Amino acid sequence: MRHNYLGLFLAALLAGVSSLSAQNSMTIKEGAERVKYNPMVFGAFLEHFDNQVYGGVFSPGSPLSDEDGFRKDVIEAVKELKVPIVRWPGGCFVSGYHWKDAVGPDRQSVWDKAWQVEDPNTFGTDEFVKWCHKVGCEPFICTNAGTGTMEEMSDWVEYCNQTVGKFARQRAANGSPEPFNVKYWSIGNENWGRHELGEKSAEEWGPLVAESAKLMLSADKNIKLFAAALPASYWTLPLLEKAGYLLDFVSIHGYWVPHDISKDPTTYLTCMMRTDGPENSISNTIGILEEAKVDDRIKIAFDEWNLRGWYHPGIGDLKNGYNYAARRENDIPSTYTMADAIFSACFLNTCLRHADVVDIACISPITNTRGPIFVHPEGIVRRTSFYAMKMYSNDLLPYYVPTTNSVGKLVSGDQSTGVLDILLTSDEAGRKYVCSISNKDPERAVPLTIDFKGMGVKTPKKVSARILSGKSALDYNDIGEERVKPYDTTLTVKDGAVTIPAHSVTFLFIE
Ligand code: AHR
Repeated sequence: MRHNYLGLFLAALLAGVSSLSAQNSMTIKEGAERVKYNPMVFGAFLEHFDNQVYGGVFSPGSPLSDEDGFRKDVIEAVKELKVPIVRWPGGCFVSGYHWKDAVGPDRQSVWDKAWQVEDPNTFGTDEFVKWCHKVGCEPFICTNAGTGTMEEMSDWVEYCNQTVGKFARQRAANGSPEPFNVKYWSIGNENWGRHELGEKSAEEWGPLVAESAKLMLSADKNIKLFAAALPASYWTLPLLEKAGYLLDFVSIHGYWVPHDISKDPTTYLTCMMRTDGPENSISNTIGILEEAKVDDRIKIAFDEWNLRGWYHPGIGDLKNGYNYAARRENDIPSTYTMADAIFSACFLNTCLRHADVVDIACISPITNTRGPIFVHPEGIVRRTSFYAMKMYSNDLLPYYVPTTNSVGKLVSGDQSTGVLDILLTSDEAGRKYVCSISNKDPERAVPLTIDFKGMGVKTPKKVSARILSGKSALDYNDIGEERVKPYDTTLTVKDGAVTIPAHSVTFLFIE
């Protein structure tokens, strides 16, 4: 699927694209508290789907793999992103997964009922924990509340974290006498949906989570517990009523361009019009936490997110199965344009603006499918979203600074969105600032007036900048062609305003 540059321009004209030249401004909110955000919002998800694990992070026998069969170039790329937490093994996969098949010397390959392929089970709990140690991230395990049992969940916690009992002894016999100390555990994955094996009703879900949580906590009282939730009261309120007293997080997911791409033309502007979606999901979930009166201690984990749903037509269609060959459409390099980078930046801005309640987020997935790292037998490609994620996890400062932003509209047909998405961060002293500004307009650079005075900074003549933009809104990276990468420059400040390049994620370094 290749994009048509002229088509984009004509579509833009026809669609009446216009970033109305309103006065765009960012002003620091008087008296607002700076919030130290949790860097776990830069987390990732790894599922046993297609080539995310086998052929992604794990390729025994590859010349690029280490003694454990882990792709060394992938480990380095994940470390480059400073990914602090990785959720595994699913996703839909986990709702038919039995962890005991994938530990110990005698691995049985099994039929993966979710994705209807054979899973060799050579990458199991021990391998995942070892991979996380090499990457330097926290392991986060999602358990099987579909076909699994609450005891199977608590046995898994015992296997990973206990020092006594048969599962701890089994782990020791498998070569790991010391506990893995896996701190993050989720009960279930999207059990609300017909597409999920072992779908549950809202009435069933709360009691199941409560009883599972009790057993898991009996195995290790120090774990942090999540449960599959929705930004919808019918599901999440009963969950919180029955099990909220045992939970630390509610898990929500979001993909804003449906996986069946034939049903939704994924034009750049379509993607830009979806950038406000994450705010709706988070605000609705906060409202439910407040209604259940648990917003003082239960946080949100947005532990699967991506602009684009995974392409696997037929998901959940167990009568006709699904189209295996379609998975290769996830690999088309030209799919992953500046839309993916800008959406990722807008998503992370939304999480950081809610830093008091959004504690964890996991891009879905980290390797292949729709992820920021494309892995092929000879190497990897850093897609545009990789560089956006890298700017966020490496360059932002640790405090979110609330601002009042006034921006013009980017219009496409009967839809519109703010043309700029702005996030201000600072150091603890409030003397250094990094401002992330995404300009969604595919054609126009846009001026932004900055509240230097409010920052306590003398208005400079120039400001240092790091810009990710590509040569056009549809630019992308491919094997041997990493054209879209951040570059450093200085931008002129004129009458207190800085001009933000079109289709860009721009960081300004101000002090
Ligand atoms: O498309 C992948 C699936 O999306 C994940 O397995 C599931 O958690 C979500 O529905």
